[in-house]
Amino acid sequence: MAVGTHGESYMRAPTGSGEPASADRPSPLRPSAPADRDGDGPDLDGLAQVAHKIRDAIESVIEGKPDVVRLALTVLLAEGHLLIEDVPGVGKTMLAKALARSVDCSVRRVQFTPDLLPSDITGVSAYNQELREFEFKPGPVFANIVVGDEINRASPKTQSALLECMEERQVTVDGVTYPLERPFMVISTQNPVEMEGTYPLPEAQRDRFTARISMGYPSPAAELEMLDTHGQSSPLDRLTPVADAADVRALIEVVRRQHVSPAVRQYAIDLVTATRNHPDLRLGASPRATLHLVRAARAYAALDDRDYVLPDDIQDLAVPVLAHRLLPTAEAQVERRRPEHVVTELVNRLPVPSSGK
Ligand SMILES: Nc1ncnc2c1ncn2[C@@H]1O[C@H](COP(=O)(O)OP(=O)(O)OP(=O)(O)O)[C@@H](O)[C@H]1O
Ligand SMILES: [Mg+2]
Repeated sequence: MAVGTHGESYMRAPTGSGEPASADRPSPLRPSAPADRDGDGPDLDGLAQVAHKIRDAIESVIEGKPDVVRLALTVLLAEGHLLIEDVPGVGKTMLAKALARSVDCSVRRVQFTPDLLPSDITGVSAYNQELREFEFKPGPVFANIVVGDEINRASPKTQSALLECMEERQVTVDGVTYPLERPFMVISTQNPVEMEGTYPLPEAQRDRFTARISMGYPSPAAELEMLDTHGQSSPLDRLTPVADAADVRALIEVVRRQHVSPAVRQYAIDLVTATRNHPDLRLGASPRATLHLVRAARAYAALDDRDYVLPDDIQDLAVPVLAHRLLPTAEAQVERRRPEHVVTELVNRLPVPSSGK
């Protein structure tokens, strides 16, 4: 069973990255750093500095995929979870590992297999002979970043154990509830559902992922660059953390304060509502999808050094945030009209508000 080590008792979850603690690293987001304009916490400039450092660190490993890296960071700052879906060998695991390694926080990796049990994810209560009491042994979900590799190889029961943790951000074992870490982000990878030996995630479970991205093949130039940089050793080994969990918590606070105008909110609702009435779809996007869309747009705008959301942010995020939640009708499936095409069509067709201020 390929689960990361777990045997530590709760509250002593290790920092899985194995990197030195970053307490001495100067951070523009720490209380000692210059305060923001309002004097009530870190500001957008601080966010941009730290976020760009994380982005550069990931891009030093993943060649030629700036949009994918930006989306992954968006999901981290939107307190969401990320599903990376693509064919084998395009860097899915590498992206998840690079993100996890650039932030100095607890990281656990779970390789999903058909024999993995729900308690292998959440943890179990075991009897301690010395103390003569039951003790909770936390599972790998007790980490800031949980990399769930090939999630569609696990049985539906185990998948749902992880997905419940994702939604509730807590684990209940034997009637006791344990809160999960903050930040808490699950990055799952999976091969496309047509592949053999997999259990496709049901739609209710896909809905828990803020965004689904696919890597896509690198351009020939990026692939050549990869051959040069990945030739002898993996650049992942040279990657050192550029931020820590406290930094990410501070970034998340900045993102929460981002302004979303009534017009942009209405635009997000119009898009989501249109998926519910579209003739090519038998399942439209949920209210959770609307929340995720607006939350992700706040983070996406912040990464662009803006303190307000533009309709363009919603448009850029519509496919990665909405498409994986939608189910096409049988006719649309036969005619290969995929949910991402429907979302793109809606983005092109619906009236767009003039600004986001
Ligand atoms: N865009 C890219 N930039 C840098 N390296 C890449 C890129 N795409 C693929 N690679 C390299 O290809 C190798 C395979 O990547 P990885 O293991 O992440 O693939 P995967 O998508 O997780 O595959 P699988 O579905 O089989 O698990 C790694 O050594 C990785 O560095
Ligand atoms: Mg992989």
